[in-house]
Parts: sequence; C-alpha cells; structure tokens
Amino acid sequence: MTMRAAPGVVADVDAASLLEAGSEHVWLHASPWRALASQEETRILAEGRGCVVKDVDGREYIDGLAGMWLVNVGHGRKEIGEAMAAQAATLAYGSATQTTTVPAIKLAKTLAELAPGDLSVTFFCSGGSEAVESAIKIARQHHYLKGMPKRFKIVGRRGSYHGATHGAMSVSGVRALSEPYHSPYMHGALHVSPPYCYRCDYRRTYPECGVYCVDAIEQLIEFESPETVAAVIAEPISASNGIVVPPPEYLPRLREICDRHGVLLILDEVITGFGRTGKMFASEHWNVTADIMTVAKGLSSGYAPIGAALCRPKVVEPFMHDKRLSHLLTFGGHAVSCAASLANIEILRREGLVDNAAHVGAYLLEQLKELKRHPTVGDVRGLGLLLGVELLKDRESGGKTPLARDAIKALSTLLIERGLLTRVGHIVFLAPPLCLTRAEADRIVEILDSSLTEVEHKFGYR
Ligand SMILES: Cc1ncc(COP(=O)(O)O)c(C=O)c1O
Repeated sequence: MTMRAAPGVVADVDAASLLEAGSEHVWLHASPWRALASQEETRILAEGRGCVVKDVDGREYIDGLAGMWLVNVGHGRKEIGEAMAAQAATLAYGSATQTTTVPAIKLAKTLAELAPGDLSVTFFCSGGSEAVESAIKIARQHHYLKGMPKRFKIVGRRGSYHGATHGAMSVSGVRALSEPYHSPYMHGALHVSPPYCYRCDYRRTYPECGVYCVDAIEQLIEFESPETVAAVIAEPISASNGIVVPPPEYLPRLREICDRHGVLLILDEVITGFGRTGKMFASEHWNVTADIMTVAKGLSSGYAPIGAALCRPKVVEPFMHDKRLSHLLTFGGHAVSCAASLANIEILRREGLVDNAAHVGAYLLEQLKELKRHPTVGDVRGLGLLLGVELLKDRESGGKTPLARDAIKALSTLLIERGLLTRVGHIVFLAPPLCLTRAEADRIVEILDSSLTEVEHKFGYR
C-alpha cells in the first residue's frame, strides 16, 4: 500500500516503507517496542503550521498538546529555523565550562528580565529532567557549602512529574508511570499529597479545609527535622496530576513555610513557563518567586532541546572563589538552542501570545464546561491553555470512579481519527499552541463532543 506523502517533506519516500522502518528501528518513548506498527494511537508526522500538523499520509490534526506541552509559538516558524541556521553557521558550540557564547549570554539576560523577582542566574541544560536534576544538585550543594551538609532531603508531591532521570524521577510522585519495575529511588525523596481539590486525599473541602494540604508540608518538614530538608519541589499547576490548579492560598503559604524553615523552594515551570497559563510564568498568578525555577519545553517551543535552572543570587552566593558547582553537562547552553530560544521569545512577545493564551484559554475552558452535559464528564478545569476534562464512569450515580480503560482507549482512537492529537487517560489533556484561534478552539470541542457521544453510546453510558 502506497500512501500519499506530504509534498516537499517526504515526497520521495513511500509511507508504507517509512512505517516499516520506523516500527523496526524507532523505539517510541514510554512504549513497548514496535508500538508504532499498530497506528491505532500513533502517527508519523511530516509537517506542521500553527496549531495544525500533518502526517505522512497527508491527514491533518489539531495539535491539542502542542507536541508534548511545548510548541508554544506553533509549528512552522521559519524565523526560528533561520536564527538557528545563522548561529550554526557562525558558531554551533562552545563548552559551558570554560567558555560561553553570545546567544547564551543574551538568553540568560533575557530570562533574568522575564523571570519573577530576582531569579537572575541561569544554569543551562538540555531539557526538563536535566533542569530538575540540576536544581536538586544546586539545592543540596548550596546547603553543604553553607555548613549544613545534612540538608539533603527533597519534598515532592504525589502525582507530580518532574522528569525521567534518577533524581527527577525520585522526587516525582507517579510511581507506576516512572518506575513500574521497582528499581530503587534516590535516597531522601519524600512525598506529600497534592492540592487536588476534586479528589482531596484528606477528604476535605475547600475553603473549609483551610488548605490543610499545604500545612501538611510543614508538618512533614518538622517531622523530618528542618535541618535535614534541602528543598520542596512543586509545579505551580501540576499537569501530570490532572491539571491541578491549587487554591489561591497554596503557593504563597508554601513560600512562607519554606522561608520559615530555611528550605529552598524549587518551582518546576517546565510545562507552565513561557505563557502556557496566560502569564509568562504560572507562579506570577500568585506573586510567588521560587529560589530555583526550572524551565524547558516552551523556552524554545521545542525547536531545539534546551532547559535551565534559574537561581536567585542568594542561592548561588555560596558558590564563589574555590567553591564551584560540582555539575556539568556537555550540551548546557548550546549556542544553536539559545539562538532558537531567543527567536522563540521574540515571537511570544511580538505576537502577544501570552495574552492570547489567557483569552482563548478562557474561551476554550468555557466551551469545554458545556461538555458537562455528557454523563461521563466529571470536572473541567485549568488556566490559560493548560486544560483538562476529567472523565468518570459513575457520575450519574454520584460517584467519581475514573472512566473504564476500554472506553478511554476507544475515545483516544476516535479523537485521533477525527483529527485531534492529545493525551487521553481518565483526563483528556489539552495544551495546544498559544496561537490557537477561537475557531480552532471550537473545532477541538466539536471533536471531543462527538467522540464522547459515540463512546457513551458504545459503552452504555447513555
Ligand atoms: C513539570 C515537568 N518537569 C520536568 C519534565 C521533564 O522534562 P523533559 O521531558 O524535557 O526531560 C516534564 C516533562 O513532561 C514536566 O512535565
């Protein structure tokens, strides 16, 4: 079978042999080998423009998750490609230990201007996991150099995802996802319950709860003894947990708790950074400044691999003279990635995409809330263009049991067939590029609406 090829991209390759070679030689992440072969929920992409991508068969999809929560400025931005090409032709690489490069300095300066508060010193790396790994090491070494070597524990939260490397995986709270084979975690990684009001672990209700879930972090720090705790790590809005927007008191109080106990606050803005939630950084919604802020994804909108741990001066002050940071990464501050990020940030600002995320995001949220007329839709929530629709199997009888796996799989297959790429568990995640139009938002809702109806009929929910 010869499939239609997208013009100009794979015109000389037939899609069937691409699929064969891809299935044989490309191991999809977090997937069994040969997952590509089934084509049920997998596709081979060829090109993209704005919020739309095309596969090698010429079929179009709205990119409902902006790749993996990151193509913030949208696909097909020639200007970023040109900036990368110009930098590669001038100087592609300079070591991050003895030297740095012009775009690395320009980017670090831009980040210092954009980031909340006095977050002004950037440690560059290649992605989100490395950013978190770096933040953990910086926090621990910071305390060591300040004469507190016992401060090594890191408090994370259940349900959070901070990355796939050992430290990042350990402070994450998604055991089944990050380590189903039970290899050991990093020593000193502790976990508390998240501010997931729709499913509160403490069986309480906001606001009567008094936001107990954040006080529980202080209790844990006190129980462990503050002199043993290096940092708390949290996403301002946890995507992996199911688009969990915390109550307004949560982050400001977490900031106070960390200050009270000399514990550093690491805010992981790998997904929420660079406009995703309608502000440049999500922590700005609550006027909170992290001690270390991790970023990646939207920093370059995925045009080049890059991440960073942004630090406040008080965090880096102990690393002076002969007290170096013991941590280095070959690709930290890669010149071409920095050039891509600068061009990306320029587009975000020039086109007002952060405001667009706020406005079109609010519109999309409103439209998605209309889906509550479906018997399977339990909750719809989010901020900016970081949204989630939580699906239940027993809402009609007052329950909150997640939708059954076979129905989820059927929904996932239908969505992709109807032209919406996203991630579906018992929560449908939506995080399209920030250039989304209202018409595209309407299309997302239409596809979701009709697919839900079909699944509900098929599985007897209506
Ligand atoms: C909040 C958060 N932190 C860190 C990471 C890890 O980033 P990467 O996959 O770039 O290593 C992710 C990835 O999705 C993430 O969502």
